[in-house]
Amino acid sequence: MLLLVGSCGAWAQGLKDAYKGYFTIGVAVNQRNVTNPEQQALIVREFNSVTAENDMKPQPTEPRQGQFDFSRADRIANFCRQNGIKMRGHCLMWHSQIGEWIYKDEQGELLPKEEFFKRMREHIHTVVNRYKDVVYCWDVVNEAMTDDRNATDPYRQSPMYKIAGDEFIAQAFRYAREADPDVLLFYNDYNETDPVKSRRIYEMVKKMKDNGVPIDGIGMQGHYNIYGPKEDEIDAAITLYKTVVKHIHMTELDVRANEEMGGALQFSQEGMEVSDSLKQHLADQYARIFRVLRKHKDVIDNVTFWNLSDRDSWLGVRNYPLPFDSEYQPKMAYDYIKNMRNPEWQLPQRPARQPRPQGQQGQNQRRRGQRGQQQQRAPFNAALAFPEKPGVKEDFKPCATNLARQGYPQVNSQGYVRFRIELPEAKSVVSTIGGGGGTPLHQCYDGSWVGQTAKPEDEGFHYYHLTVDGGLVTDPGTHIYAGGARYESGIEVPAHDQDFYAIKNIPHGNMSEVLFWSESTKQMRRAFVYTPPTYGKDKKKYPVLYLQHGWGEDETSWSRQGCAGIIMDNLLAEGKCVPFIVVMTYGMTNEVRFGGLGDFTAKDFETVLVDELVPFIDNNFRTIAKKESRAMAGLSMGGMETKTITLRRPEVFGYYGLFSGGTYSPEDIKDKNQVKLIFESCGSKENPDGINSSVAALKAAGFNAVGYVSDGTAHEFLTWRRSLYQMAQLLFK
Ligand code: XIL
Repeated sequence: MLLLVGSCGAWAQGLKDAYKGYFTIGVAVNQRNVTNPEQQALIVREFNSVTAENDMKPQPTEPRQGQFDFSRADRIANFCRQNGIKMRGHCLMWHSQIGEWIYKDEQGELLPKEEFFKRMREHIHTVVNRYKDVVYCWDVVNEAMTDDRNATDPYRQSPMYKIAGDEFIAQAFRYAREADPDVLLFYNDYNETDPVKSRRIYEMVKKMKDNGVPIDGIGMQGHYNIYGPKEDEIDAAITLYKTVVKHIHMTELDVRANEEMGGALQFSQEGMEVSDSLKQHLADQYARIFRVLRKHKDVIDNVTFWNLSDRDSWLGVRNYPLPFDSEYQPKMAYDYIKNMRNPEWQLPQRPARQPRPQGQQGQNQRRRGQRGQQQQRAPFNAALAFPEKPGVKEDFKPCATNLARQGYPQVNSQGYVRFRIELPEAKSVVSTIGGGGGTPLHQCYDGSWVGQTAKPEDEGFHYYHLTVDGGLVTDPGTHIYAGGARYESGIEVPAHDQDFYAIKNIPHGNMSEVLFWSESTKQMRRAFVYTPPTYGKDKKKYPVLYLQHGWGEDETSWSRQGCAGIIMDNLLAEGKCVPFIVVMTYGMTNEVRFGGLGDFTAKDFETVLVDELVPFIDNNFRTIAKKESRAMAGLSMGGMETKTITLRRPEVFGYYGLFSGGTYSPEDIKDKNQVKLIFESCGSKENPDGINSSVAALKAAGFNAVGYVSDGTAHEFLTWRRSLYQMAQLLFK
């Protein structure tokens, strides 16, 4: 009976049994794991290979030259001996967790090569000899290649490398081979599916082997995350490695819940809330990883999890990284691995790029057909694509700035933003929204790329674009706006005071587009002219505000992202300002290179504005054509223009406004009576002190100066919408 059950295999007990015929399944353990009876039992039930997580590393085994401490390593080795489990030895030479004595003298200087080799040989021989009976393979050299993609030298600039170049790698392998002719010797590294790094690893191993260095295998650490690497990336790395070695182990497998990857300790400990979608993401990613590993069972002979359970993981419990949770209970991921399930979500596979020989065309098509069938993708499901995060409310809605019927981007009530874009063939997609380097997007099972900002965004309007495979593109979901001297996507994060620029059922004015001849530039130029709802219906003449945009923007910016007309309509409906005309033209700012502002005189624009546009407006609209009824204001570089032009032509404008565009000082202004109002503003995240002290100085000098600081905003359009709203109420009264 027993025999029957055992041989039919239906009663696979642990992962190791399920993977009989594929590869051994290992686990990295700590002291607790091998002394706690329940954890011991779990190890014995599930695994048939053990790695010491830390206790066989250079530093713990030989903290000082010649002073070996094997107490902890022995405890693990003895547990394995008693239970008949063989060990992966980890590790003999590594730049981390190693006593400096091995490469430095007492003065702290790097040792001469010969002395360093002597010490290294002594260490390797002693450790390898001690565990010869129980260790079946060693990670001889760990992490010797650099992650710097642009580096010309492929090696990590470690002290060992500085002393001996890559000869230290060769020597380490030779010493290990001397000590044990039978053990398998591995080179081990992380980010080993990255195309640049995998090529470096491959080339190093190839060079070593060509020179007779005894390298048997490559260890792929496999510190991955729920988004990547993708199956085809893992597949490509294995396919490359197996051209140079006969043995590949996945030596340190875990799957983080955040975007970080690799063995460098830059990851955050804090991951996500363990939501259903995270559980699914994890199970799917493990299913994909194991599917590729099974496919390469000819060369993969061990897969080792880096730690027994989430409680033991170096990544912390919140990363939810392993098949066993913090209570040592198996997860959905465990089931997916053990039962060799296919992932619920199929990540899109990139089409094979290599052309095949002509004769195989028919076969090719058949294959493609099959692949097409396998790739039937589940419909997009936002609840699964965006893992829930603690503290983030699930009340995302399409942004007000989206085109009709476009579901993304979305924003929630806290200001978190989600992106989604269909780019099945892309390799990397990053949104410029979100602090630091922006927000990375991840390809999800339906081929689309999704991502969510790590923090809430400021209220108001933000420009952004997507960087796709290094190139700049706008998001097809949103309207585009002149900004940054190109068309940028725009996103509207609802502001608590958005009512003042909301479109309401009230009398609205007109935003007309006019073309005027400019003799100085010999061309027709365009301006937008806002006329209040009463304009043309009464016989009155109106004052005029000339309103300038900033660098990178144009004459459309104030009426579109600035909401200038809507703000005026709302103010008028509430009786908060007198009716006036607003004129917006292109300030010729974009001809200036960003950074070349120092040389900008606004002389050409002054001619266009004062000598060409002002007369045109006065001739074609019902204006009060005098200085007391004319204002000029501008944001940012438009503020610079406002300042220089109002000072050079004091006879033209009676009111001045600078929005995040600098300040006037009392000395700038020759005649106190030349200006009726100076308005200066900026966002609280800019330089409010500069505004406050300038306004105080102007007031002290007897000017009618008003300062305004927009709360919680930076150098962006909500600051300027609010500034217009404030200044408009003070004009022409
Ligand atoms: C980690 C251990 O898990 C941690 O406990 C320790 O603090 C640092 O090292 N690459 C390796 C492993 O080769 O030895 C590392 O282990 C993880 C990265």
